[in-house]
Amino acid sequence: MKTLCYSLKPFERPGMVQANHRKHELIFNEQSLSLESAALAEGCEAVSIFTNDDASGDVLKALHRLGVGYIALRSAGYNHVDLTTARRLGIRIANVPAYSPNAVAEQGVALLMALNRRIVESQWLMQMQDFRLDTLTGFNIHGKTVGIIGTGQIGMAFAKIMNGFGVRLLGFDPQQNPEAAAIGLTYVSLEQLLCESDIISIHCPLNEHTQYMIDEPQFALMKEGVYIVNTARGGIVRTSALIRHLSAGKVGGACLDVYEREKGLFFFDHRHTIMQDEEFIRLRSFKNVLITGHQGFLTVEALRNIADTTIENLDAWEQHGRSPNDLTD
Ligand code: NAI
Repeated sequence: MKTLCYSLKPFERPGMVQANHRKHELIFNEQSLSLESAALAEGCEAVSIFTNDDASGDVLKALHRLGVGYIALRSAGYNHVDLTTARRLGIRIANVPAYSPNAVAEQGVALLMALNRRIVESQWLMQMQDFRLDTLTGFNIHGKTVGIIGTGQIGMAFAKIMNGFGVRLLGFDPQQNPEAAAIGLTYVSLEQLLCESDIISIHCPLNEHTQYMIDEPQFALMKEGVYIVNTARGGIVRTSALIRHLSAGKVGGACLDVYEREKGLFFFDHRHTIMQDEEFIRLRSFKNVLITGHQGFLTVEALRNIADTTIENLDAWEQHGRSPNDLTD
């Protein structure tokens, strides 16, 4: 199946080539999918995209006009895809449902530990030969209350790691995970979770119900000094509210692998552009905010699984016209 892979970075290439075994005609392009770049897919039956590509209705219509019938997402999340329009146009879309929950969960833990134990700051001081400890006090994770919003695959992987630290685990999710009881995770209301947690980690999808689910009223309920970990999607937290509560000292730390307006920003070299996003500039100015540029998925194991499942989706479409991972059924 001739497939144009948009936003395909050099680190993904070897895995894709290996998984493909020359079965499909893959064209690799680092450019993102947008209304402007859709025309590049002329002559392709399928395209493959990542999290920050634009798969809104107009872009899907443009792809449909070019004869593209399949879109293989190299991601689990599909908040960037207009599934209603895809269904109407008969475009099949499949994702990679669980390429490595641990990769993302471990990124959240890495951020939490690095920020709390001042690892980045201590490295700067070390390089400057300043061996004073005055600004480097952290806290024990052991004994804290950790609230997990969204206890699906990644949330549960995060919870299991936290369980090893010896914490009290709270969870909020409309669908309870049967594995929760085994690690002592107690389901509570969102309000109770916000009121009682020392650390809040977000692992639910971004959709119309979860956009800005962490906003002013939710911050108001939180404990003084609360740590927020967000490896899910930036739009779940209202950035302006987070900034206000960081400024006021209410939020003790924010560990972010995602950002509300990361599209067009993350995954690109902006060293020579003047940053226009004032909120992003402000966020980066806090010493108690640690941001990585959506790299939770970036492990050898996850990349291999993403490549394998993406090719399996193309195989399934070519052979049966549908894939078990179809989101458009
Ligand atoms: P999942 O589908 O296994 O779990 C999501 C959980 O969220 C489900 O249990 C669901 O019931 C729950 N949920 C839905 N609405 C909710 C709400 N309003 N409040 C609380 N919980 C709610 O998904 P998975 O694999 O755990 O991924 C979670 C999210 O992580 C993805 O949607 C994606 O946005 C993000 N992600 C981030 C990556 C990164 O590189 N930073 C990589 C992969 C995923």
